[in-house]
Amino acid sequence: MKNLIVANWKLNPISQKEAKTLLDKTKRGIKNIKNADVVVCPPFVWLAVAPKRGKGGFIMGAQNCFWEEKGAFTGEISALMLADLKINYVIIGHSERRKYFNETDEQINKKIKKSLSAKLKPILCVGETAEERDSNKRAEVLERQITEDLKGVKKEEMKNIVIAYEPVWAIGTGVTASPEQAKEMHDYIRSLIAERYGKDIADKTIILYGGSCNSKNAKEIFAQEGVDGGLIGGASLIPEEFLAICKAAK
Ligand code: PGA
Repeated sequence: MKNLIVANWKLNPISQKEAKTLLDKTKRGIKNIKNADVVVCPPFVWLAVAPKRGKGGFIMGAQNCFWEEKGAFTGEISALMLADLKINYVIIGHSERRKYFNETDEQINKKIKKSLSAKLKPILCVGETAEERDSNKRAEVLERQITEDLKGVKKEEMKNIVIAYEPVWAIGTGVTASPEQAKEMHDYIRSLIAERYGKDIADKTIILYGGSCNSKNAKEIFAQEGVDGGLIGGASLIPEEFLAICKAAK
């Protein structure tokens, strides 16, 4: 399975000038990456200044979307608007959205379904907190998230869904899951997909690892069977670092 590396810029950078420079440098760097597809997810406002697929080889993604199409929902951006900008992917259910914006599994499920109907590919983020891991609830949490977030998603739609295993304790902390921990959880997520959709679908589902990935640890994590690439936060803001991570893909 061809690996996927996704840059999640989060709330960065703060100026259009910096965004263009970062896009430019990233674009130049990933031009020669053949072993993985590379997706860049800048903040909404910088999506419009990014070169589209075909004009610079970028696959673009957004970091969130709303489940309603249009109307009186001040401050929201709909999946249809993203599709109109020719955006391909959208991150849904990131732990920062669950934590700071109180996103629930029910809302995440609505966003997933709306993204699919708008022909976007959702990147669904799941993962346990440190407390949940310490109290041995990691399997329970993942089972709940996969069940609730994918409720009603049909078998034929699964080819358009990417899952990102992002242990909350590893995001932005500098503490990465060990390759063994990542593998264990990826295998578990794949088994949950297999139970619901069959082994053939599970085997084809792209499952990314995210959480303090950098140029030093990426190769070992990506080398694990069942880890199909990464969702990269902080390190995606440093073009040389991001490029090295892309090169580390299988
Ligand atoms: P990080 O973020 O690489 O900065 O830990 C990953 C993410 O939140 O997607």
